Amino acid sequence: MIQRYLGNKNSIADYILREVGRFCQPRDIVCDIFSGTISMSMALKRSGYRVISNDISIFSYHYANCYLRNNTIPNFDLGILGIDSTEYEKMAQEAINIKKSETGFSFLNKQNLYELYKKLVIVLVYLENIETKDVDKKYVGKYFYDTYTEEGKNSYFRSLRGTEGHRRFFTPSNGKRIDNILNKIREWNDNHLLTEVQYSLLISIVCESIEKISNTQGTYHDFQRDIYDERALHDLTLRIPPFDDVISTQNEHIIGKAQDSLRFIKEIPNHKLLYLDPPYNFRQYTSYYFMLNLICNYCTIKDLKKYFKNVQFVRGQNMDDDFDSTFCKSDKFIESLKQLIKDAKTQYVIMSYYDGRNHENKGTNRKDNGIAAIIDLFESDIFKAGSFEQLAFERTNYQSFQGHTADKCNEYLFIAEKKK
Ligand SMILES: C[S@@+](CC[C@H](N)C(=O)[O-])C[C@H]1O[C@@H](n2cnc3c(N)ncnc32)[C@H](O)[C@@H]1O
Repeated sequence: MIQRYLGNKNSIADYILREVGRFCQPRDIVCDIFSGTISMSMALKRSGYRVISNDISIFSYHYANCYLRNNTIPNFDLGILGIDSTEYEKMAQEAINIKKSETGFSFLNKQNLYELYKKLVIVLVYLENIETKDVDKKYVGKYFYDTYTEEGKNSYFRSLRGTEGHRRFFTPSNGKRIDNILNKIREWNDNHLLTEVQYSLLISIVCESIEKISNTQGTYHDFQRDIYDERALHDLTLRIPPFDDVISTQNEHIIGKAQDSLRFIKEIPNHKLLYLDPPYNFRQYTSYYFMLNLICNYCTIKDLKKYFKNVQFVRGQNMDDDFDSTFCKSDKFIESLKQLIKDAKTQYVIMSYYDGRNHENKGTNRKDNGIAAIIDLFESDIFKAGSFEQLAFERTNYQSFQGHTADKCNEYLFIAEKKK
């Protein structure tokens, strides 16, 4: 999973699950409508709920497609993909052996699952070692190297303040690796050699692997201008994903494909509980994490030349991929939240919120990080009188803005039952 994501609920998923469990039984439908890295969606799946998951970012859709909705290990046909398995089998086995004792890999004890998984790992080892000569000429290109590394011919930037330089999201050698891997997946995808789940899985693995060698402080809004972060100097390797949770249940789940939650909420079936984890401030996630969405879209962009010619800002984003969320605007936050809850066909609502110092006041001029306005909403007549609860606990905020300093913040849960 992607770790360096603002608001990622991985570390507090169990705490939230405990509250969900007060209102829901296994197989009840729970909707995670700002699903991001899908950390909560996966925790809900693991607990036996049927999950509805959606986020405005397309990377979240691909994650949900291969880890949440999918309950199997996809069966890769190595011959069709042109991979000589004998060449990579030993490396794949060694990679699997290292993982065997880690959490999430107990499925490897079943021989049939081991064999399926080995084929996935062979594909990953193949991609990790791929060179330009292994990609069909028609698909060779160096857009990531050119646009996001300091040696690239399309990486020059001039900021609004007048600073100039060349983008350094990746080292040049990793830029070349990203190009080769993505071009090969593009070639396979164009030739219809991958199922949708296989495509989502490979692209999700590329996303989370690239995150580990990105020269950023976590988001892709900017990069380290003058230095390479130590982790960015490592060679890109493809992460081998745990699958215990993926195959844990055979329940059916529903996923949205990069939909605005305000629209998606009207299209989904009745559910028992709506879990809300909206953005907490003005930062538009589709800008701050544009690189993850670009990686997911790369194989389906028709005219790559035109696309990369039109990148803008220091970060180099093509703004056709941007979405201006009303949940990131302080004057529209409460109004949007109210509309979302009104339109939801749900019995209970649980909303996460935290009062980190990078918050703005949400729809209020009170200097309380917008908490009072949220309480007003949860005590309004959308909900049953007397059903509102506010829970809080303190945690260390490692994701504090622009810094590495960890400060304390309160993590809140707002809970209420909707009026029928
Ligand atoms: C706090 S994060 C959610 C984090 C998530 N719970 C996790 O554990 O990774 C807020 C999410 O809201 C999404 N978002 C913002 N505006 C949206 C909108 N209008 N519709 C759908 N998703 C939106 C962002 O892309 C972001 O992933």
